[in-house]
Amino acid sequence: MLDQKITNEDMQKRIMRFKEMKKTHGVPLMFIDSILPGHHRMNYAVIGDTASEDTEYKPVITAPHRFQIGMVKAPPGNGPAFHTHDYIEAFMPLSGRWRFYWANDPERADNPEGEAILEPWDLISLPPKLWRGFENISDEDAWILGILEEHTAFVSKDPYWAPQIIEQAKAYGFEADETGRMIKPANFEELRERMRVQLEVQRLVSNEI
Ligand SMILES: [Fe+2]
Repeated sequence: MLDQKITNEDMQKRIMRFKEMKKTHGVPLMFIDSILPGHHRMNYAVIGDTASEDTEYKPVITAPHRFQIGMVKAPPGNGPAFHTHDYIEAFMPLSGRWRFYWANDPERADNPEGEAILEPWDLISLPPKLWRGFENISDEDAWILGILEEHTAFVSKDPYWAPQIIEQAKAYGFEADETGRMIKPANFEELRERMRVQLEVQRLVSNEI
């Protein structure tokens, strides 16, 4: 055991305050699909990354962990597009209702092999390689918590997107390279700020937390 005292200052850095995080850590275009209708969302890295493709995220808690935690807020009808990872990710809705759908074939987003509707406090654990998507099916913005197995960001493709999603994102000027880094369109910052405002306005309209 390490003979090292943990200070109160250390401990303060290991606390995520939700109200503060919302103001300072939202990433509106964290992934190449985030620009696509039906896949708009705000991503928050709480511990580690959340499989980000945008290198400009910063986690709230920076101390090393052997797992990673992210949060997502999505407007009604929105959520991550069909994708997969090399590691397990598990999700627990914090508000709203969420539909998860999955298949072993990346072409089956519209004709999935299975699906489930989750409510707050439910949890789903998605195994590596299974193709999955999910969406907020409630009529207000909703939050979900994600727990990811430890992985190193920006060493290979992550997430793997279904071919049709890659094509759709390309039409908006969004791609990812072989290290999983987003190749951004020239007007990325303008698009990012427009999306930030759009997601924020929806929050105010829906009077969400
Ligand atoms: Fe994922």
